[in-house]
Amino acid sequence: MGGSITSAEDTVEISLTVDSRPQTVTVSPRTLLIRALRNQMNVTAPHIGCESGRCGACSVLVNGQTVKSCMMLAVQAEGTEIVTAQGMEEDTIGQRLQSAFKKFHALQCGFCTPGMLASARELLRHNDHPTEDDVRQALRGNLCRCTGYQHIIEAVLDAASVGRKSHEN
Ligand code: FES
Ligand code: FES
Repeated sequence: MGGSITSAEDTVEISLTVDSRPQTVTVSPRTLLIRALRNQMNVTAPHIGCESGRCGACSVLVNGQTVKSCMMLAVQAEGTEIVTAQGMEEDTIGQRLQSAFKKFHALQCGFCTPGMLASARELLRHNDHPTEDDVRQALRGNLCRCTGYQHIIEAVLDAASVGRKSHEN
């Protein structure tokens, strides 16, 4: 047998930006991004649900694209810019989505909401006039046990509509 892996070799330092804050943490090569976010960076907006890519509760934006952070290793996030539902409070689309979620009662327990917001934000960044089908497609990786989805879809459509009106003014 060869030599054993020392603890120093078994960790990697990564630097990334999360919700506009630079972060440097030391992780195992096997640490999932969701675990590094929650346990090491104190970023608790993304939730841990299934931890197997099915529920979307852990979704975040990595360089603008929705990623299920339980399906990505923390080391793969080196150098990236991550935005979570927490950071979306600081951008216009995120604010519109959060207001619309409140207005349309698009959350009950709220467990799925951070992931829903991440997926919806990616959609609205690329498509300011989505159809209901576009919204359903964008949210297809996010499960909600409470709302039956309709209020969430209406909220995303409303946020898009508010965004278009603000551009017209
Ligand atoms: S916790 Fe990541 S998809 Fe469910
Ligand atoms: S609001 Fe409870 S899981 Fe969606």
